[in-house]
Amino acid sequence: MLLRWYDRHRRRLPWRAEPGEAADPYRVWLSEIMLQQTTVAAVIPYYERFLSRFPTVRHLAEAPLDDVLAAWAGLGYYARARNLHACAQAVAAAGGFPRDLAGLRALPGIGPYTAAAIGAIAFDLPAVPVDGNVERVVARIAAIEMPLPAGKAAIAAGAAALGEHPEAHARPSDFAQALFDLGATVCTPTRPTCALCPWREACAAQRLGIAETLPRKAPKPERPLRRGVHFWVTDGIGQVLLRRRPGSGLLGGMTELPGTPWREAPWTAQEALDHAPIAADWRPAGQVRHGFTHFELILDLFAAEVPVIDAEGFLHPVDALGDAALPSVMRKCVRMAGGR
Ligand code: ADE
Repeated sequence: MLLRWYDRHRRRLPWRAEPGEAADPYRVWLSEIMLQQTTVAAVIPYYERFLSRFPTVRHLAEAPLDDVLAAWAGLGYYARARNLHACAQAVAAAGGFPRDLAGLRALPGIGPYTAAAIGAIAFDLPAVPVDGNVERVVARIAAIEMPLPAGKAAIAAGAAALGEHPEAHARPSDFAQALFDLGATVCTPTRPTCALCPWREACAAQRLGIAETLPRKAPKPERPLRRGVHFWVTDGIGQVLLRRRPGSGLLGGMTELPGTPWREAPWTAQEALDHAPIAADWRPAGQVRHGFTHFELILDLFAAEVPVIDAEGFLHPVDALGDAALPSVMRKCVRMAGGR
């Protein structure tokens, strides 16, 4: 039932093989890493740019890490980009992707979900990758009412049971992708269109009238607020001062405007100016808010122009900031302070 629905309604996605075409493990892997924590719509432009810049795993392996981080900038979770590069190097050295789940899981940045997704989609291995879409489908089919995260184990068991379905055995690659599409287009978080669902008859939550309420989620703890101040300073020939963040930790290896640490207590202007990269006639240049997974951030900006910048960090042309590995929070700062 699910596969017949998929054959009619499958989405055309840039990383997805057309019917009868063999899947390219490089494309499948790249898309799965990008799709973690991000939506299909947000990923597509990045994926296409990435693929034209690094058309094969060897191109990616041989590129400097900075180029990879710059191409990733804006997608967030930058440890993924560093792992992506390390994984490409391991795969290129081995002459290709391993074709078994254990081999895939041994690669940098590939956990149980990604191994199952690549194994199923690229190599037709009998595995069911459980992402948020699949969790929702499974929670509803089996009417699992235990809230997440405690309900994860029950949902994983339900997903494993789905993997025993004859359709899953017949076409593991299409089965996995059909689950993604069902979750994304029919079994949606709000207002699922159960009338169009190929599994309507089998769905316990639909029978009980509780589909839309599943999966239940335990209330999230509130995210703490942190604050920082960053400095936008340009010189007489249109360059802005940037610096690189430490290689590990949050936004590791990415580029930023110089600034204060991020902390809970607000910064007074006087305290903040002690962290200014140079002495200048600083003026307030607005405020930016950004949500990270574990905290909410408010950044105040100061701006100045000076003829020549002599400071720690490096200078970058203001009209070429697209090439700098600026994460989204810093893009917001640049826009606010008057760059592009
Ligand atoms: N979500 C995660 N992986 C996906 C894929 N390969 N296609 C569509 N949605 C997805």
